[in-house]
Amino acid sequence: MKKITISTLLAKKQRAEKITALTAYDASFAKLFDEQGIDVLLIGDSLGMVLQGQDSTLPVTTTDIAYHTRSVRAGAERAFVIADMPFMSYATPEQTYANAATLMAAGASMVKLEGGDWLAESISGLRDRGVPVCGHLGLTPQSVNVFGGFKVQGREEDKAQQLLDDALALEQAGAQLLVLELVPTSLAKRISEALTIPVIGIGAGPHTDGQILVMHDMFGISANYMPKFSKNYLTETGDLREAVSRYIEQVQAGEFPGPEHSFE
Ligand code: KIV
Ligand code: NA
Repeated sequence: MKKITISTLLAKKQRAEKITALTAYDASFAKLFDEQGIDVLLIGDSLGMVLQGQDSTLPVTTTDIAYHTRSVRAGAERAFVIADMPFMSYATPEQTYANAATLMAAGASMVKLEGGDWLAESISGLRDRGVPVCGHLGLTPQSVNVFGGFKVQGREEDKAQQLLDDALALEQAGAQLLVLELVPTSLAKRISEALTIPVIGIGAGPHTDGQILVMHDMFGISANYMPKFSKNYLTETGDLREAVSRYIEQVQAGEFPGPEHSFE
């Protein structure tokens, strides 16, 4: 089986083939998702909410992410593995390099950071040092206290322009992938078309280059509430493997997300 690399993902964007992604936190689910043909597995700091039962991602540590990254790496054969850098683990470039090194040594093939153009130095520094970077814009959950809640971002034209400028700045700095969370469908389309690198959406409509869901939301088993943009694939299939392959098929066919999972 041919391993998925960042080149595979870029080629998919160029061929207009959708990229499929799920979060994963352990070897068994990583293996199951991998066997169904998922492209990307993300060890998300969402684990603070779905595994630890906290009400935000802020308490998650690099040690937590590294532990779960080792588990996912052990289960993943083909999928591309991305690890989240947690809250305040990339506050300065030096901290960023040290913590990214821990996650790469744990088995990640890329790290993901939340934020806009202020991250340019850290992103180009990571890339120079051999660490590929995924950006994350829109509703960035580590900044929930700044936003004052989990709200759709970029509804006003000036905010939308700011998000587009940030996305271009991240690409310019050397980011090779971007996650766009909770933004209007039209803005996500605009950003995906403006960037050369693949854009993976969550709550960002159907026009991004790929989709990601938190696995617990996709199975409808989250301890927290179920977000509007997510879909429970387990009740409609009654089987874990079926649920995953239905999700993959619907993303590839452009059937998920529908208007009922999106914002305008
Ligand atoms: O932590 C996470 O699971 C994420 C995804 C929702 C993109 O960042
Ligand atoms: Na995250």
